[in-house]
Amino acid sequence: MTDTTSSQPAKAWSGRFTEPVSDLVKRYTASVFFDQRMARQDIRGSLAHAKMLARQGIIGAQDLADIERGMAQIAGEIERGEFAWNLDDEDVHLNIEKRLTALVGDAGKRLHTGRSRNDQVATDIRLWLRDAIDQILALIGDFQKNLLDVAEANAATAMPGFTHLQVAQPVTFGHHLMAYYEMSRRDAERFADARRRVNRLPLGAAALAGTSYPIDREFVARELGFDEVCYNSLDAVSDRDFAIEFCAASALLMTHLSRFSEELIMWMSPRVGFIDLADRFCTGSSIMPQKKNPDVPELVRGKTGRVNGSLIALLTLMKGQPLAYNKDNQEDKEPLFDTADTVIDTLRIYADMITGIRVKADAMRDALKQGYATATDLADYLVKNGLPFRDAHEAVALAVRAADVKGCDLPQFSLDELRAAMAHVPGAAERVKDDVFGVLTVEGSLASRKHVGGTAPEQVRAAIARARSTLA
Ligand code: ARG
Repeated sequence: MTDTTSSQPAKAWSGRFTEPVSDLVKRYTASVFFDQRMARQDIRGSLAHAKMLARQGIIGAQDLADIERGMAQIAGEIERGEFAWNLDDEDVHLNIEKRLTALVGDAGKRLHTGRSRNDQVATDIRLWLRDAIDQILALIGDFQKNLLDVAEANAATAMPGFTHLQVAQPVTFGHHLMAYYEMSRRDAERFADARRRVNRLPLGAAALAGTSYPIDREFVARELGFDEVCYNSLDAVSDRDFAIEFCAASALLMTHLSRFSEELIMWMSPRVGFIDLADRFCTGSSIMPQKKNPDVPELVRGKTGRVNGSLIALLTLMKGQPLAYNKDNQEDKEPLFDTADTVIDTLRIYADMITGIRVKADAMRDALKQGYATATDLADYLVKNGLPFRDAHEAVALAVRAADVKGCDLPQFSLDELRAAMAHVPGAAERVKDDVFGVLTVEGSLASRKHVGGTAPEQVRAAIARARSTLA
C-alpha cells in the first residue's frame, strides 16, 4: 500500500480535526478492502454526475473533459491491478477521487460538488446489485434449462412419492424435478421484482437533505439506466431495504436448493440408491478408500446457513437506525457481496451438476414395491364403483394389513385373496372385479393423474413444454 498522493492532506475531511486516528481505528473504520469491488460502479456514477454538473453549468466543459480523461486512466489502472488502494483514504470513493485529483488537478476536486458519499455509496450499491441480479437471473435460466432436459428424459420414470418420508403414491422422477422448476420460477420472479426497487437513483440526495445546486436528477437516472429517482432524500441515503429484499430472495433460493441437495444426498446413499452423481461433484475419504461423498450438495445445504445469516445481519443492521445515514450502513456490503457470490457460484455449479445425475430407474421402481404405493388407487377404484370413500379407505387398510401378513404387494394378491381381505367391510368385496389389477399397476396409477399439475407422464411433458415456452 503506497500513498501516491502524499502532497495532499491525509484525509478528505481532515481540516476539522486536531489529532489523527490510531492505526486500529483507521483499519476499523475503513471499507476500501471490500468496497473496492464497486469501483466500476463508482466511476460510472461519478461520470454521470459530472456530465450532469457540466450540462447544468455547475462545472465547466473542460472540467468534465479532465474528469473523463482521469477516470478512463483510473479504470484502466484498476482493471490491470495497478491501482494503489490506500487504507488512509478509507473507502473506494475517496481512493478514486484522490487519484483523480492527482491526475487532473482542480477538476478532480470539483467532482464532489452537490454530492455526498452518502448518496454516492447508495448509488454504487444499487448499480452493483442490479448487475448481480441480472447475472443471477441468467444463471437461474441456465439451471432451469438443464433441469427441464433431465425432467423430460424422466417424464415417465416411476419412483415413489413420499410424505413423512414414507412411500405414499407413485410419481414420475420428471414430475419430482418439475417441483424444483416451479420453485426456481418463483425465485426468479422474486429477484426480478426486487430489481424494480433496486433500480431507483439515490444520487442528488447528497448528505441527507438534498443540495442547493441546480441539479438534474432525472438526467442522471437516465444516464445510469435507473427507472426513476428516489423521491425522499433522507430515505434515499439511509434505507437498505432493497439489499435486504435481495438477501431474502437469495435465502429462499438457497433454501430450495438446499432441499434439492438433501434429496440428492439421500438418493445417492447406497441405502436408497436412486441416482448417482458425476464424480466431478464428489470427493473421496482420506481414510475410507471406498467412499464417494456428495460434497457439492452438502456444501450447498451448508452454505444456505451463511446466506440466511447475511439476511439476519442486514435486518439487524437496519432495525435500530434513526434517519438518515449512519456509518452502520457500511456493514451492509460484506454480507451482500458474500450472498451474491454464494448464490452465483451455487447456481453455476448446480446447473452443471444436474446434467450429471445418473438415474437408476430400476431402484426407483423396486422401491415402489415396498410401500403399497397404489393403495389410494385401490380405494379410488372402490369409490368409482359406488362405495363411500371412508368405507373404501377402511377396506383397503384391511387389504394392506393382509398383504403385510402375507409379505406381498397389493398387485400380487389373487382376486379371491383381495376380496377375502376386505370381507369385513360390507359392500367392498363384491365391487372388486378383474379390472382392479389395471389400477393397481404403477403405470395405471400414474396415467390416471392426468389433470393440470398431476404426475401423469403426458402432464409432465405438458408442464415441461409450458416451461420451455417461457424460457428464452
Ligand atoms: N464507506 C461508506 C459506506 O460504505 C461511505 C459513506 C460514508 N459517509 C460518511 N459520512 N462517513 O457507507
